[in-house]
Amino acid sequence: MRGILTLAPLVLLAACTGAADKAAQGVDGAAIAAGTDDQWLSYGRTYDEQRFSPLKQINTQNAAQLGLAWFADLDTARGQEGTPLAIDGKLYITTAWSKAKAYDVATGKLIWEYDPKVPGETAVKACCDVVNRGMAAWGDRLFLGTLDGRLIALDRATGKELWSVVTVDQSQNYTITGAPRVINGMVIIGNGGAEYGVRGYVTAYDAASGKQLWRFYTVPDAPGKNGADYLKKAEASWKGEYWKLGGGGTVWDSMAYDPELDLLYIGVGNGSPWNQAYRSPGGGDNLYLSSIVAIRAKTGDYAWHFQETPGETWDYTATQHIMLADLTIDGKPRKVLMHAPKNGFFYVLDRTNGQFLSGKNFVPVNWATGLDPKTGRPIEVADARYDKTGKLWLGSPGPGGAHSWHPMAFDPAQGLVFIPAQITSFPYLADPKWKPSPMGFNTGDDFASVSMPPVPAVREGTLKATTGELIAWDPIAQKARWRVPYKGPWNGGLLATAGGLLFQGTADGRFLAYSSADGKPLWTFAAQTGVIAPPISFSVKGEQYVAVLAGWGGSYALSPGLISLKSGRVRNVSRLLVFKLGGKAALPAAQPVEEAPLNPPADTASAETVKRGGAIYARYCGVCHGDAAIAGGVTPDLRHSAMLGDADGWQTIVHDGALAQNGMVGWSKLLSRSDIDSVRAYVIHRAHEDKALAAAKP
Ligand code: HEC
Repeated sequence: MRGILTLAPLVLLAACTGAADKAAQGVDGAAIAAGTDDQWLSYGRTYDEQRFSPLKQINTQNAAQLGLAWFADLDTARGQEGTPLAIDGKLYITTAWSKAKAYDVATGKLIWEYDPKVPGETAVKACCDVVNRGMAAWGDRLFLGTLDGRLIALDRATGKELWSVVTVDQSQNYTITGAPRVINGMVIIGNGGAEYGVRGYVTAYDAASGKQLWRFYTVPDAPGKNGADYLKKAEASWKGEYWKLGGGGTVWDSMAYDPELDLLYIGVGNGSPWNQAYRSPGGGDNLYLSSIVAIRAKTGDYAWHFQETPGETWDYTATQHIMLADLTIDGKPRKVLMHAPKNGFFYVLDRTNGQFLSGKNFVPVNWATGLDPKTGRPIEVADARYDKTGKLWLGSPGPGGAHSWHPMAFDPAQGLVFIPAQITSFPYLADPKWKPSPMGFNTGDDFASVSMPPVPAVREGTLKATTGELIAWDPIAQKARWRVPYKGPWNGGLLATAGGLLFQGTADGRFLAYSSADGKPLWTFAAQTGVIAPPISFSVKGEQYVAVLAGWGGSYALSPGLISLKSGRVRNVSRLLVFKLGGKAALPAAQPVEEAPLNPPADTASAETVKRGGAIYARYCGVCHGDAAIAGGVTPDLRHSAMLGDADGWQTIVHDGALAQNGMVGWSKLLSRSDIDSVRAYVIHRAHEDKALAAAKP
């Protein structure tokens, strides 16, 4: 097996630089594979997704002289998670709501903008904000995935749409937030939706025409309906009527590509629903959930897989950043794949065949005591299987993960992987009465019973236990070289440079340059909003720039309630920020972010109504408005809503969908007016509880 693979590179490399590349003008596979120093051509810069810029004009000696060259305000006040592309002196970005824009780097001038007009109602299918993480470039084209499941080719010079294909069944709860990749004239795109009941896959399209070339499913269909051998094999690892709820396994973010092996690596997501007792009653590994899967790019055939969390039941996706590198391990050169998924372990695999080389937890975890040194299979703690015990399990990490989509970065000279990590936990509790719903979260877990109580000690304890960390990880020794602690989770993605620098934005509204050797901060910029997106670096006419999208949002700004505010309260101010040495531009003065005092109408509903409203809120509303009705700075905090005192106005919005275009769908198909009024009663009650807490504070 390995012998064949070592012969393959020459043949495949010849194929890569063949007809398809010659036909393309501009960006091609050779440029993405090797990287061009002054550009940023692909999501992770190069196919190995190292996010390392070889530029060093900006370095540890002069980083303190960095300044804002220019900025551009964006027209979407939602989470900005995109990686810009920098090609021939222009910047191409995507924003929330899957919009694309092009800027001239030298002047900051907007060249074109493109709006795919995603219907506002689509937001209700998105677990984690209406974000988009970026485009792919090939030839003179750009490729964009949209929240409502389209893949669109744009003319890079004009932003004009060239073709558009629908890559999902739009009657189901699929979304696209991830960036496509282009391999040898094929555009590869995945999708999301495993919180809602879908079956995951990736699809390859012809960059020239948009014609579908192959599709690779990550979980099996019903027995008897699986053609491919790898899916037939997977069937045996599932139980019950698993296909009826979709199974999950969406590939909503990470991919990497090895041109020599012609292997495309995908990170497969969590189960749908989370709770395995509902998804696959009786257990099983549930292949290929929470796995790295290697696919032969040319044909879309299965090559190998490595499952990180067998029988996952905690939302432990393997969709996190996949990074490829060549390391010397025990004196031997190894082609490795490195991965720090939600489950908290750092994995080093042999990427030619999926063999487990080593793994170690990079933050404290309590669901497993370690990994089997031979197989890499987690050694689970029995109590962690809340789906089996029926008891509450305070799991660490929680669904937010020890590391989420925020990209890592690599410094090849230092041999360090930098991880934007977090320490999170979650009270997992099975919902014994759970039924699937056509709208909203479908996890099989009881969110209402574990909602944050208005008890100071519980709140303080949870907040204290939830933090963030920037980690410099030695993947060979499997240990941290240094750590920078953060007050809260959900800090930004990373960029490493040959100037010895590491750039990162933070949840508390800063953008920093660190010395990558020791984690010493060298420069800080006040970004006025949480910065979660990863920066890039590039140069134009000999001048090096660093660019990043600012704009608080994403799942941790929406769903975890009080925890969203752990780093402090920030607003969403969505901007593209571009820096250079001696940059002299300045942002307008920041708006204040203090919370107004709570002033709810009288709390007159019965305890029973409040309880009923609380259960509906926890299942359908909390994902966007925050656990216990405490919002995180992006969507309205309902405890402050003027509609609390206006029963009809509340119905117009929540039942009839008056704000549907803005991402607040109407719920008339699912909830009665009486249900909806009980949610109002619950929010009024919650506002009173928090008002009393605030008054009791010394
Ligand atoms: C998919 C995300 C999402 C979900 C789920 C959601 N909302 Fe909203 N909601 C929003 C957004 C975004 C807005 C702001 C819309 C705007 O800016 O016009 C909003 C606005 C509102 C408002 C108006 C607040 C004000 O005073 O401005 C109310 C009331 C509301 N939502 C109630 C609910 C209730 C009740 C539920 C559950 C049944 C719910 N929402 C579920 C995203 C969501």
